[in-house]
Amino acid sequence: MKIRAVYPGTFDPVTNGHVDLIRRSAPLYDKVIVAILENTEKEPLFTADERVEMMRRAVDGLSNVSVTKFTGLLVDFAHRVDAAVIVRGIRAVSDYEYELQMALMNRRLSHKVETVFMMPAEAYSYLSSRLVKEISLFGGSVRGLVPPSVEKQLKRKYRRSSGRHVR
Ligand code: PNS
Repeated sequence: MKIRAVYPGTFDPVTNGHVDLIRRSAPLYDKVIVAILENTEKEPLFTADERVEMMRRAVDGLSNVSVTKFTGLLVDFAHRVDAAVIVRGIRAVSDYEYELQMALMNRRLSHKVETVFMMPAEAYSYLSSRLVKEISLFGGSVRGLVPPSVEKQLKRKYRRSSGRHVR
């Protein structure tokens, strides 16, 4: 059976933990659609187009992975692209409560989509987009934590907007 999966998130910015999860999920599904939330309450550092561009570079070479923006309900997007699975990463127990709540709410909204949780490599279990931004803001190195193009974009962003808050 050919199953399509959606891997949704804010990806502000994509980290090597996200890329690790995409690499792990790609062989399991016919197609993996990375869905980047456009209008988020989180007020991202990067615009949706910047986040899409960085993600596209990061997954370049994975032939069954595509990247797109979305707005509105995730389950509606999943229906539109004919995906039966939502992939979410769980790093530690602390992620579980939020993820469980979201998975069960999505199940209530649609019985056609099932959430599948996956674990990234241990090396990325303490990695988050928020910490990456904070480290970059204060001039620390994020080499090895994010794809090289993201490292460059972070440097450029914080050079341009010094003093901006980390979200
Ligand atoms: O990377 P994030 O910020 O944890 O991803 C959260 C995301 C994008 C998966 C979630 O906010 C989402 O699905 N938003 C779309 C709106 C929606 O469907 N909300 C109801 C979820 S139960």
